[in-house]
Amino acid sequence: MKRLTVPALQARKGGEAIVMLTAYTARMAQLLDPHCDLLLVGDSLAQVIYGLPSTIPVTLEMMCAHGAAVVRGSYHSVVAVDMPFGTYEASPQQAFENASRVLKETGAAAVKLEGGEAMAETVEFLVKRGIPVIGHVGLTPQAVNVLGGYRARGRDDNEADKILADAKAVAEAGCFALVLEGVMEEIAIEATKAVACPTIGIGASADCDGQVLVTDDMLGMFERTPRFVKRYDDLATRVSEAAAAYAAEVRSRAFPTAEQTYHRAK
Ligand code: KIV
Ligand code: NA
Repeated sequence: MKRLTVPALQARKGGEAIVMLTAYTARMAQLLDPHCDLLLVGDSLAQVIYGLPSTIPVTLEMMCAHGAAVVRGSYHSVVAVDMPFGTYEASPQQAFENASRVLKETGAAAVKLEGGEAMAETVEFLVKRGIPVIGHVGLTPQAVNVLGGYRARGRDDNEADKILADAKAVAEAGCFALVLEGVMEEIAIEATKAVACPTIGIGASADCDGQVLVTDDMLGMFERTPRFVKRYDDLATRVSEAAAAYAAEVRSRAFPTAEQTYHRAK
């Protein structure tokens, strides 16, 4: 099977829903890849993999290492890598230097970056120079220190108008898809109608052109998840039970048995 392309995904506007999940490791990428259109190496690896309190401390080196692993583990989905905080906001030139490094070091086809009107010039700069970009507006976790938390956005008219303006700005600047995170459904629907590229919702609306979730949330790896997450499994419980069973068998010397041990030929 040939890998999907960015233009093929862009052409899905208003058509077959785009399926996107996060992946950070090669093995998980292998398992998710046949079912997805887009694998996102999200900077959510901060919390999911590294136990960090926010995405602010994530480095380009972390994103490159995990991005390369996900590309090695997939052959069907488009792989997009999040640009971490502080590696793209200062100027279009800074963004190009770092985004080109991400594509070179990982083999991924695209990057994602947070921000609306303020990032439009940068999005255009990257796209015109050969770097496909996914936009990300609404609740933008890298702005946590400005926003003061992770509450869904667009509750009042000012916020709603700003999110719509942000969506239009990065879409017109040329992003091939746009993540709408943590917004009132009315805004997600209006933005989806207003922009030419596919929108991908998370805590947004079923009427977006696609959906994304953090895989570990979807698998039930965490005790608490936000309301917009649907858990398709309860892996945390299953991992705990497996670890408990192993621990009990090691302590009782029930593991290993003859089946798991090697013997010299007689
Ligand atoms: O980092 C991430 O996982 C993301 C998605 C939730 C869109 O940006
Ligand atoms: Na992210």
